[in-house]
Amino acid sequence: MVCLGNICRSPLAEGILKSKISSEQVFVDSAGTAAYHIGNLPDYRSIDIAKKYGIDITDQRASAFSKNDFDAFDYIYVMDQFNYDTVINLARNQSDISKVNMILNELQPDKNLEVPDPYYGGIEGFENVYQLLNSSCDCIVQKIIN
Ligand code: 4NP
Repeated sequence: MVCLGNICRSPLAEGILKSKISSEQVFVDSAGTAAYHIGNLPDYRSIDIAKKYGIDITDQRASAFSKNDFDAFDYIYVMDQFNYDTVINLARNQSDISKVNMILNELQPDKNLEVPDPYYGGIEGFENVYQLLNSSCDCIVQKIIN
């Protein structure tokens, strides 16, 4: 799960997907394309929204996406077009590129819709992000199980 800062959207995506699938079956992690917040806890608003839905994300610390992640993961979900472009620019070959997708394409295929960046807005933006990611993660789980 990849966003910009790895403190708002992708930590929520990580927590939501982990809540839906066994860690023995699937390894889930998140990272940011920018390094501003490395080592930080998720934003308190993401922590609060996750908690509202029974998910604890306070064990997470922000990290930066790296080329090695192309080797470590089968699926790389990005939150928006900027993250997509940044990750694709790090890809080394077609196999790397084929792993990357906008996460909302799991809900609405090929539309390239973005999970809006909630950082500068209010808590309602985080609620919206939660709902979008929750629906997308349901689709991801179905895909992995199938
Ligand atoms: P995220 O949100 O990419 O969902 O973690 C942001 C976090 C921090 C900043 C921007 C977006 N920032 O500008 O510091």
